[in-house]
Amino acid sequence: LVIHREDYTPPEWLVPETKLDFDLDPFTTRVTATLSVTRNGNHAAPLRLDGAGQKPLSVTVDGVAINDWRIDGEQLVIPLAGTAHVVETQVEIAPDRNTQLMGLYASGGNLCTQCEAEGFRRITYFPDRPDVLSVYSVRMTADKKHFPVLLANGDPVQQGDLDDGRHWATWHDPFPKPSYLFALVAGNLTVNRSSFTTMSGREVSLGIWVREADLPKTDHALKALELAMAWDETTYGREYDLDVFNIVAVDDFNFGAMENKGLNIFNSRYILADPDTATDYDYDAIAAVVAHEYFHNWSGNRITCRDWFQLSLKEGFTVYRDQGFSADQGSRAVKRIEDVRGLRASQFPEDSGPLAHPVRPESYQEISNFYTATIYNKGAELIRMMAAILGPQGFRAGTDLYFDRYDGTAATCEDFVTSMEEGGNVDLTQFRLWYTQAGTPRVSASLLQDGDRATLRLAQQVPATPGQPVKSPMVLPLRVKLFGAESGTALADERLVLFDDTLDTIEFEGLAERAVLSINRGFSAPVVVETDRTAADLAFLSAHDDDPFARYEAMQQLMLDTLVASVEGRADHESVIAAVANTLANTDLDLAFVAEAVLLPSESFIGDQMKIVDPEAIFRAREALRRDLGTRLETQWRQAYARGEGQPYAYTPEDKGLRRLRTVALGYIAASGADDAPDLAFAQFDSADNMTDRMGALTTLVSSESEIRTTALDIFYSQYCDNPLVLDKWFQGQAQSSRDDTGAVVAALAEHADFTLTNPNRARSLIGAFGANQRAFNNADGSGYRFLADQLIALDRLNPQTAAKLLPPLGRWRRFDAARADLMRAELERIVRTPGLSKDLFEQASKSLEG
Ligand code: ARG
Ligand code: ZN
Repeated sequence: LVIHREDYTPPEWLVPETKLDFDLDPFTTRVTATLSVTRNGNHAAPLRLDGAGQKPLSVTVDGVAINDWRIDGEQLVIPLAGTAHVVETQVEIAPDRNTQLMGLYASGGNLCTQCEAEGFRRITYFPDRPDVLSVYSVRMTADKKHFPVLLANGDPVQQGDLDDGRHWATWHDPFPKPSYLFALVAGNLTVNRSSFTTMSGREVSLGIWVREADLPKTDHALKALELAMAWDETTYGREYDLDVFNIVAVDDFNFGAMENKGLNIFNSRYILADPDTATDYDYDAIAAVVAHEYFHNWSGNRITCRDWFQLSLKEGFTVYRDQGFSADQGSRAVKRIEDVRGLRASQFPEDSGPLAHPVRPESYQEISNFYTATIYNKGAELIRMMAAILGPQGFRAGTDLYFDRYDGTAATCEDFVTSMEEGGNVDLTQFRLWYTQAGTPRVSASLLQDGDRATLRLAQQVPATPGQPVKSPMVLPLRVKLFGAESGTALADERLVLFDDTLDTIEFEGLAERAVLSINRGFSAPVVVETDRTAADLAFLSAHDDDPFARYEAMQQLMLDTLVASVEGRADHESVIAAVANTLANTDLDLAFVAEAVLLPSESFIGDQMKIVDPEAIFRAREALRRDLGTRLETQWRQAYARGEGQPYAYTPEDKGLRRLRTVALGYIAASGADDAPDLAFAQFDSADNMTDRMGALTTLVSSESEIRTTALDIFYSQYCDNPLVLDKWFQGQAQSSRDDTGAVVAALAEHADFTLTNPNRARSLIGAFGANQRAFNNADGSGYRFLADQLIALDRLNPQTAAKLLPPLGRWRRFDAARADLMRAELERIVRTPGLSKDLFEQASKSLEG
């Protein structure tokens, strides 16, 4: 069954008020829902409520039990005359048997919910679509000993004890919201509290709820929440609107976190941190996700989506907002580099593969499959481009208008773009193609100089994607600047070129010397740029460009060109070695930037540049360059490695940069084949006072041939086997290894006593990391493909959403040689033929075969 965007019709019935009464119990929970319903428009349709898997017990209309209700598919159909009624349903659900982790489920002995996108229908019968907004009152009753804490959306109202050992609590959320934002939590939890005074003086009580033992690991998340609340006031003028804001961390969660009104529920990996168990990367991700979910209170909750095709309206914008927040907490340049690396690693392959879809899709079978890098990260790039076109004041005027005009409504991407047009006084007619056309545009740029004049020739092409063979040219905001090859300085101010045709030329005058082109600075458009710049030009930019991103980009391009050439048998490492040496010697640069700049592109990103991916050749070419860099710059790496050695841990931008560079340096020392490298890594592993350094060393060790690697893995395991989040790192590190035996190691780990498919983090740590390990996964014997398919088929029976998310590596068959492609297709076909397959996995596998 395919749902089409064009088929949208407004809801037939509205539900202005919803009262929910939960008699909570892990085995059997009884839910009584009292809906005040009103007919929407002039029609005679019965009331249709979505449901999934619950057991209906009774239905009353205006207080009278009725029998003429029926179940149609999974919907409850109630014949109703007139325009307004009160409908009450009673159902039974079984949280402890809910392995899908959608609806009400049990995690670590507590009860919690996840409703986005269509989980609410697994709790009770309801019009489970985002354009039905309702005011919710919730009552929960539960055993007081096992579930001392009872939380729901909005503000707490009352609570009390019953004489049978049970207790109850009521909550009320005054803001009308769609069902996907409903949440409740019942459990044995403790809280880390703080408070925040909003710009208008509202006192908000903040709480992060976790298991008692995890309480010391919640300070970083709480601090991030306070920073995010303040940031949204200063940056967007957005203030919080309830008296309480609660966050609950749970171990079993299908994705990162969820923005339920006033009660965010988080995957514990995005809350819990202390220096001994979380890396710098984890700390950064926690702050970003806490901010992301908080920002949804405006971009998502106060203004929600009319239908799920508009998902990027809230997700793209909210990612853009969280990226801005993180950029303001540390280095703007490094944050941009990380975001672009992420986009290229996850979104570009999606855009060039069988699952490519526009930022506003036209159709879907299962909406859960559309929580993608395209909707989230490319969606954020669209907002970034509009911000660039409008400029800071215009963009703020546009967002003010958007928040003001659509507050309290379910809006569309079109509404957002219209607000930008009006607020910024610009015409975005052609820009809208970014919402409808899939595929990453390719730009070719060449600069032709004649004396003191130069012409920049631009050409763009948007590649065909499934269902979209022909494309129109898009609006590409390209930040462009020219640098003098002799002086090493800028020849003129930066220009913002709005390239909106298939071909264009831009003229430059008054150039006193040969100009070198710096283009798509800051990655102003999410496109692939091909230029005719030489290795010398790129090396020059990597040393002289005044935009740190462009500097990084020049180095990446130089490395990529070198690696692609060397896969094709033309290895010349000299320019890269010189450029890296130069960057390492530049004392003006911040260390985190240096660490990013000297890192080679990943094997998969190199593969993305090639028509047919040869994973072995790519691996060998990259290793050879790593070895050369390691050997030729050994002194520099050892110097970088010695910096700050033995300095006690602190989570500051400076120290993070230092640690990152040290780990990169350690990797190069190991790549050089230096005899002392394994001991050096082991010493760091053994003496580290923080997880960043320990994990950095372990990452080097897991790929090493030295036996000391098993010693390190065993020590790590025995030290952390009781900490699920750290144990995930143990699984993940081994799945990422570049050793020849990785496939066999991963297969054995899938049989390990601590491996389970019921916990999504654990499943992802092994299966997801292995699927992303280009060389190991694409082993020529097909064992990697078979392993992934076996795991997905098994996981699909428990948790279809998480299974479907792990499928994409199998869909890349068109990019590989015929032998590998056949093996991959055979596994996709085996998945599609599996009896009882979920529609989640079916959609992904069948589309991956066609594409
Ligand atoms: N809205 C959540 C967030 O981005 C994620 C929900 C994901 N839902 C899903 N069905 N995959 O913060
Ligand atoms: Zn989100």
